[in-house]
Amino acid sequence: MVPVVLDCDPGHDDVFAMLLAAAHPAIDLRAITTVAGNGPLDKVTVNALRVCALAGIDVPVAAGLSQPTAGNAPSIHGESALDGADLPEPADLLVDEGAVALTERLLEAGPLTIIATGPLTNVAALLRKRPDLRPRIVFMGGSCGRGNWSPLAEFNIFADPEAADAVLNSGLQVTMCGLDVTHQATATPDVFDRLTAMRTPTADILTDLLRFFASAYHDVFGMPDPPVHDPVAVAAVAAPELLRVVEAPVAVELTGTYTRGATVVDLHGVTGKPANASVALELDRAKFWDMVLAAIERLG
Ligand code: BDR
Ligand code: CA
Repeated sequence: MVPVVLDCDPGHDDVFAMLLAAAHPAIDLRAITTVAGNGPLDKVTVNALRVCALAGIDVPVAAGLSQPTAGNAPSIHGESALDGADLPEPADLLVDEGAVALTERLLEAGPLTIIATGPLTNVAALLRKRPDLRPRIVFMGGSCGRGNWSPLAEFNIFADPEAADAVLNSGLQVTMCGLDVTHQATATPDVFDRLTAMRTPTADILTDLLRFFASAYHDVFGMPDPPVHDPVAVAAVAAPELLRVVEAPVAVELTGTYTRGATVVDLHGVTGKPANASVALELDRAKFWDMVLAAIERLG
């Protein structure tokens, strides 16, 4: 089992990442940490605790940093950052220790993979504080081409480009699951059908959340089926065989007039720079959803 901390900003698709990380047999979920992104820190932290209550997830939850610069994606996730369903009261799992301190302590005790599905603010703060610690980092964010928050920038990177730059220049083992691969993780009607057919309270609430997310994606991006981005980063750890990755140099645009927050991925080696990340490009969509739905079923 891979020891994991999930650093997230729930967020509809973050919920699916939480459930997959909690229930997949290959993952030993040690803690959930939160970061401002899809909403301010207090909202996403309460959302994480509500999801823990919903799914019976029993790990420490630590709140992280309330920066980052861009913040909030209410057009996609609603005012609460997780609109569309009646979630239970938050679980009593919040610890006093902050996200960075908790992750630091776990790393001191042994190897750890950080799966980050929000802006990389907490992760960068950890690396600044303890450059001697060597986590593996798998993040959802970036893109080899177009963006979703500006024409070329994906939301998680746009929200804190300096943090992403620090992670990508850390020399650590870094895996990027960007829009190239997460746009293959679409929730098509058959996914809704399979979720509804489970007839559990959790699956019913997930269906409501996914409906809200689908409608927001349709309104904002005109996409018929919403891409459920964040669990792809968990899949990269739990079942790496489901993804095709390439090694490539990735830079973050920090100063571009129109392109701040874009990830510049040199897929063809034209810069001559050494690779600093494994970049996921393809997903076995059918097996991905089989895995996510099996995890949800396992949680009951
Ligand atoms: C990312 O941005 C957020 O809105 C989602 O939760 C996901 O992590 C997709 O660009
Ligand atoms: Ca997210």
